[in-house]
Amino acid sequence: MADLLPVNPYRGTRDFLPEEMAVRQAVFSKFYKVIETYGFQRYDGPLLEPAEIYEAKSGREIADQQLYTLTDRSGRRLALRPEMTPSVARIVARFAGQLDFPLRWYSHVNCFRYERPQRGRVREHWQINCDIFGSESEVCEIEIFDLVHDLMAAVGATREQYVLRVNCRVIAESAMRHIVGVPEESLPQVFQVVDRWEKVTEEERVADLAEAGLDDKRIERLNEVLTGDGGFVDELPADELADSNIAKLLKRDERNLFKFDPLIIRAFEYYTSTVFEVFDTDPVNRRSLFGGGRYRDLAGLFTTQKIPGIGFGMGDVTVLDFLETHGLLPTPRIGSDVAVIPVKAQLNEAARTVTRSLRAAGIKTILPLVERSLSAEMKRAGRNGCRAAVIIGENEWHRRAVTVRDMRTGEQSEVPSDQVVDRVTQILQAEPGTD
Ligand code: HAM
Repeated sequence: MADLLPVNPYRGTRDFLPEEMAVRQAVFSKFYKVIETYGFQRYDGPLLEPAEIYEAKSGREIADQQLYTLTDRSGRRLALRPEMTPSVARIVARFAGQLDFPLRWYSHVNCFRYERPQRGRVREHWQINCDIFGSESEVCEIEIFDLVHDLMAAVGATREQYVLRVNCRVIAESAMRHIVGVPEESLPQVFQVVDRWEKVTEEERVADLAEAGLDDKRIERLNEVLTGDGGFVDELPADELADSNIAKLLKRDERNLFKFDPLIIRAFEYYTSTVFEVFDTDPVNRRSLFGGGRYRDLAGLFTTQKIPGIGFGMGDVTVLDFLETHGLLPTPRIGSDVAVIPVKAQLNEAARTVTRSLRAAGIKTILPLVERSLSAEMKRAGRNGCRAAVIIGENEWHRRAVTVRDMRTGEQSEVPSDQVVDRVTQILQAEPGTD
């Protein structure tokens, strides 16, 4: 006999059984609902894209280490999408002439990154993306941050359980120049160190900063800027902050909307000002739940038209870890409502007729797919979560009647076949499900 193939999925990818899928569906449908109340419209795009669209501006980590690339039979270099932002920028650029800006668009897509699987990190994850295109106003930031809070509230999270950490690259660069005194050519290297700030030890940080050309005094100032309350923003030249919506919001004291945090840098090259991440306040979950930012001209890869965007990706793995940690996972029932059981094969057609009437009324109804005894089928109906059973017996069917059993109370009665839907509905309404 030939060797059997492995049943485990490829490392870092997951299979979802119906029970788990039901939990995911319960969570995501709440998210879709909130997103749609904000007027976002759903779009989609391909899983495969030309590799260059990620190599251009998604940052070195994604381009050099995490991209799954392949060459098709005609020699085109393609990549499995590691994120949705370059695709949506391409789609918006492609249809810009016929779109009515500003747009509010959302998607829910799987993304692939070649990462070391660990808590909060896998190789295929699902991301909800929400982006606004065609507006540079700070109203977008407010909308996006409000949306983040409403999404978290929709799944039962309180403001103490998570934190929305926000920074702005315009502010960060200005602070590096004017307060820390970082030489222009060292800026990228210093930002790389800041981006890894919470992932490395203090010694490593100091060594990396020294290598980037910072002396002890500058390193100390950098420390103060990064770990203080953001008071330094007032000392920066106002003309340099003209493009910073976060500077505007800080002036208006919108601080209950977000936590200003100079440690948030984000590795993507396309962000030009606002950057943000959402974290669990419970330290067991160290990876971000949401990541996002403003990109003035990512669409510029594809068109000469200027189309600014701002948005975020929210990952399934970290959100579900968060919900589990805080006891917020829903417990939907996944079974059917009713089992229709003919007592013998000759009554299969009758069972089919009754089943059709129940399904037409929107009731989840199953009938036997293998021949089994009535008691075995009743047991299976119970295991399946059915709250009613409709038994088709020979004598009753002659009278155009069936037996309807309430699976919870065990009560059963004969019901004319044209009243089955009403009787079953009564039973279902007496004990509503949780979905
Ligand atoms: P990102 O921060 O790379 O941003 O990903 C967004 C979210 O996706 C993360 O906060 C995390 O929840 C989840 N995520 C990312 N990588 C993984 C992984 N390997 N395993 C599990 N979850 C993961 C972006 O992708 C940007 N394109 C988001 C964006 C949209 N910016 C503007 N619009």
